Amino acid sequence: MNILMVASEATPFAKTGGLADVIGSLPAALAARGERVAVVIPGYRQNVYPNPPREAYRSLWIPLGPGYVVSIFQTTERGVDFYFVHCPALFDRDGIYGHVDDFMRFAVLSKAALGVARYLFRPEVIHCHDWQSALVPVYMAEHLRLDPTYSGVKVLFTIHNLGYQGMFGRETLAPIGLDPRLFNPEQLEFFGKVNYLKGGIAWSDAVSTVSKGYAREIQTRAFGFGLDDFLHKHGPVAGILNGVDYSEWNPEHDPNIAAHYSADDLAGKRECKRTLLAELGLPAGLDRPLAGIVSRFAAQKGFDLISEIASRLLEEDLSLAVIGSGDAEYESMFRSLAESYPDKVAVRIGYDDALAHRIEAGSDMFLMPSQYEPCGLNQIYSLRYGTVPVVRATGGLDDTIDEETGFKFREYSGSALLDAIRSALAAYQDRAAWVGMMRSGMRKDFSWGASAAEYAALYRRLRAESF
Ligand code: ADP
Ligand code: GLC
Repeated sequence: MNILMVASEATPFAKTGGLADVIGSLPAALAARGERVAVVIPGYRQNVYPNPPREAYRSLWIPLGPGYVVSIFQTTERGVDFYFVHCPALFDRDGIYGHVDDFMRFAVLSKAALGVARYLFRPEVIHCHDWQSALVPVYMAEHLRLDPTYSGVKVLFTIHNLGYQGMFGRETLAPIGLDPRLFNPEQLEFFGKVNYLKGGIAWSDAVSTVSKGYAREIQTRAFGFGLDDFLHKHGPVAGILNGVDYSEWNPEHDPNIAAHYSADDLAGKRECKRTLLAELGLPAGLDRPLAGIVSRFAAQKGFDLISEIASRLLEEDLSLAVIGSGDAEYESMFRSLAESYPDKVAVRIGYDDALAHRIEAGSDMFLMPSQYEPCGLNQIYSLRYGTVPVVRATGGLDDTIDEETGFKFREYSGSALLDAIRSALAAYQDRAAWVGMMRSGMRKDFSWGASAAEYAALYRRLRAESF
């Protein structure tokens, strides 16, 4: 079956978070099952291309705003065609998000993806991810309803994070080519703004998210970001857990780490810890437990809890290895912790994929105290690296970690987090039990197989509805 995915990032080309990991690996898993999959993402200035892309379509006219002429470039990775929307006026910039005209940048992405569907890859299902591609079904319904190219083409919309909805002023409707009548609470209007994600939910044929737990949570007031009722009304919301790509995240052959290891032979992990401590300038003692953090610094990730308990936490015999970037408030919080506790806390501000792998491999435990977590990938990577996760029991964290493999706390409070970390530190003292826990995690299999099969079944169900 032909499936066209549309998203704003994908490894190995462009990445800020887990969405890129998913778009870089789910298509290959589907292709391995015999599906034909293509992916459309922007041709950002920052894109990294393992193989040079070729121009697949020149001068596609996008009649939005002032009008844009875009080219489509193409390359193939692991049996999947990736198409890049080349539009220097919109994508040749510093930073891939956060521009004042993001409403136009991602409207053009959605329109261009429909051009790919017309000229380069004929899909039966278009699978859109997050608000950046949410206008695809809106344009299909509003601009292309009578166009036979798209008749019977179904749209699946996957929400990777309800906290980002793509909200813009009402005046953006005209430049993105949408009729003002859509500005009503049943369609695009949300508290006086245009809400792209709402469009994706309203016009798609099916909606899903990235864990069963999060699918339930987002239909409640506490996690719904104001869209809980709307989601419920357009439901059901399918929950399909993200898989992970063990060709990228596996201590048996990870090229970024100091020594390789497996559940059967853990010796290399000590070497990874030793070299990580040295790299970060932390004292060499291997017995003191080391907790890792690899994260975007956003309120979602729960770092206000770390800030709340910092002084009590660092009275414990524990070190922290942190890589992340994002909100200034958390960057300075972690920086000042490192200054106050130089022999216990090492922080690197920035984005560094290789260091992320070394922290996964060299740490004993991994902290994810998220306020909410749609799926979360780092805790799953941690399991494979024998790095015991300490997580808040929410969304995908709750679905992927159990008492055999990690430590969970439920209440969103500093003291609950501190209790969970103290339990982990106590458990660490019993080496045999700890190694048992590491091995249970390392033997878990979260590869894409089962989840790719669930997507394939959902695509088929959608296609069947068009006859
Ligand atoms: P989210 O998508 O909400 O950021 P996930 O856990 O799903 O959370 O995925 C995060 C991904 O981004 C992981 O692959 C993680 O290793 C990576 N990542 C996050 N921050 C950094 C960073 N500062 N440096 C390197 N990799 C990072
Ligand atoms: C989002 C979520 C994260 C999820 C990722 C991939 O960024 O915050 O939990 O793992 O998308 O689906």
